[in-house]
Amino acid sequence: MKEVRIALIGTGVISGQHMERYESLAHVTVVAACDIDEKKLTAFGEKYGVKDLYTDYRELLKRDDLDAVDVCLHNNLHVPMAIEVMKAGKHCYCEKPMAGSYADAKLLYDTAKKLGKELAIHLDWLFTSQSRYASRMIQKGQLGKVYHARSVGYRRLGRPGLDMPEPYFSRNFISGKWAGHGALYDMGVYRISQLLYVLGVPKLERVSGMTYQELPMNPVLLGENKMEVEELGVGLAKYENGLSLDIIESWAINMDDLGSCMVAGSKGGLRFCDDGNLTYFSYDGEQLLDTDLRVEDNHHMERLAHPELAYDDNDQANWAAFLAGELKERYDTPWLALQTMLVSEGIFLSGKLGREVTAEEIGALSVSNAVREQETPWGTFSYDF
Ligand SMILES: NC(=O)c1ccc[n+]([C@@H]2O[C@H](COP(=O)([O-])OP(=O)(O)OC[C@H]3O[C@@H](n4cnc5c(N)ncnc54)[C@H](O)[C@@H]3O)[C@@H](O)[C@H]2O)c1
Repeated sequence: MKEVRIALIGTGVISGQHMERYESLAHVTVVAACDIDEKKLTAFGEKYGVKDLYTDYRELLKRDDLDAVDVCLHNNLHVPMAIEVMKAGKHCYCEKPMAGSYADAKLLYDTAKKLGKELAIHLDWLFTSQSRYASRMIQKGQLGKVYHARSVGYRRLGRPGLDMPEPYFSRNFISGKWAGHGALYDMGVYRISQLLYVLGVPKLERVSGMTYQELPMNPVLLGENKMEVEELGVGLAKYENGLSLDIIESWAINMDDLGSCMVAGSKGGLRFCDDGNLTYFSYDGEQLLDTDLRVEDNHHMERLAHPELAYDDNDQANWAAFLAGELKERYDTPWLALQTMLVSEGIFLSGKLGREVTAEEIGALSVSNAVREQETPWGTFSYDF
């Protein structure tokens, strides 16, 4: 298989997972890495045996032996850096959320198309037996008319960078400047994108919602920092053909279990169990039927029976196999990520305006909050986009 040569920008917490996935792909070589934090960069280089290390991404992007670059920076640097990468002629893999605002995400999506580069966004939960099987059942009509879905994410107390402290989660998660938003961007993106995927990426019509930051903060854990993003986001979105999606995503709430994600149809409904399996519920007019679909438990058997799923285990594998020419099609993660940004931004905007907003309004009113100038120990980086 054709070798794919990749560099990583950002060697913080999540870069380790990306690196380990690339190490498991025989045709991928990670040839270089970059971070403005020299200590983290050196530790990363030593741990993974990456020798070419850069503190200035502009030097890294001058290389002509890279096929692609993986951007593991915080949210509001995704768009500036991903655009730099693609302008330098490289394909780009980028962490989630796609951006800090819908306007920025749209710019990134359009720029990738314009430059003809293969952009991928880290939406891990599409690459599960649960997503594959639910999508197949809906496509085959086994749920009948699908009319409602629910996206639920629950943490009792887990605001990353605050109650879930450094070094596991950086302070950037609670910073307006670097993260843009909180719970909906951090964990909501996984669930919302998974549901939009299994629902066939429906067209959004209207959204209403609210965000909250109500729970006390431990002053010792907070220190000098400010919690500038939501810890709870709730919304109700209306899609084409009468489909509705309600969303609740909590980093912190005074409540126990909030339930799980689900899709309800006229012939049957699916619960997305936390262990990766599904439960199917139906009623035939006389009897109620509940069935456990052990799709996650059966994952290894599914892989053996379907060798074509070799590149469906995670999104890096899928994207890299596409770059190597092994796959003719790949998951359209940029489009799904953009649609996820659209509904999330609808919740923020609706909360701000105190009313329901249309998809057109979200597009028209969304403003960029991406970082344009960044002070670093190596001088000021100016992003031109
Ligand atoms: N931490 C997690 O568990 C996790 C999980 C999934 C996704 N993510 C996503 O990954 C992204 C990064 O999160 P993280 O936890 O790895 O953050 P992190 O703060 O640990 O890592 C980010 C790294 O980027 C570096 N950096 C900043 N600007 C740079 C620049 N211009 N050039 C080079 N390096 C630069 C920082 O020095 C830092 O080492 C976020 O968008 C987050 O949503 C994180």
